[in-house]
Amino acid sequence: MKQQKLETDRLILRRWRREDHAPFAAFCADPDVMEFIGSGATLTPEQASGLITCFEKAWDENGYGLFAAERRETNEFIGFAGLARPGFMPELLPSVEIGWRLGKAHWGKGYATEAAAEALAFGIRCAAVEDIVSICQVGNVASTRIMQKIGLEFDQRSIDPTCNRDVVVYRLPR
Ligand SMILES: CC(C)(COP(=O)(O)OP(=O)(O)OC[C@H]1O[C@@H](n2cnc3c(N)ncnc32)[C@H](O)[C@@H]1OP(=O)(O)O)[C@@H](O)C(=O)NCCC(=O)NCCS
Repeated sequence: MKQQKLETDRLILRRWRREDHAPFAAFCADPDVMEFIGSGATLTPEQASGLITCFEKAWDENGYGLFAAERRETNEFIGFAGLARPGFMPELLPSVEIGWRLGKAHWGKGYATEAAAEALAFGIRCAAVEDIVSICQVGNVASTRIMQKIGLEFDQRSIDPTCNRDVVVYRLPR
């Protein structure tokens, strides 16, 4: 059985559950959360639920994926961090992307960095993952900072072809 649950000082990273759908939909309906995701459009609850279904399918297919994150103290779902194939930028394949998204109420507490560092360690241990990158839109200062803090290094600037927005790509040094 592959490891699919991780713990940090304050967080549990785990597979997705039915009860995550409603809070995740609320996060994805928030324009501030979605500002630097794709075109910046918010998602309907159906679209957000569809994403969770895709995340879980990817877990089953790849043996790695995006972890749902909850606070250990309260078991409150706060968002996700983890690994995904960056299919929206085929030029980067077969590298695997590390990414994160938290509800606004949970920003500014170091949770994203804590979750990302643990997910990165998981990715490094994962035999199916050869090379790890992280991609964020230019201007997403918090995400760029997280990439630097977990030890990734600037690799290149590019354009997300799905929305024509400028992105920076960071990469785990070999
Ligand atoms: C990106 C995101 C996960 C950051 O979450 P967070 O919990 O605030 O992150 P952390 O608390 O771990 O902070 C990470 C670093 O970014 C800095 N930071 C956070 N918000 C910032 C902002 N608006 N401007 C500048 N720096 C910021 C923090 O100070 C910290 O750096 P430091 O330790 O050097 O002070 C959160 O803002 C989010 O979910 N955004 C929407 C989704 C998103 O953009 N995902 C990434 C797509 S690539």
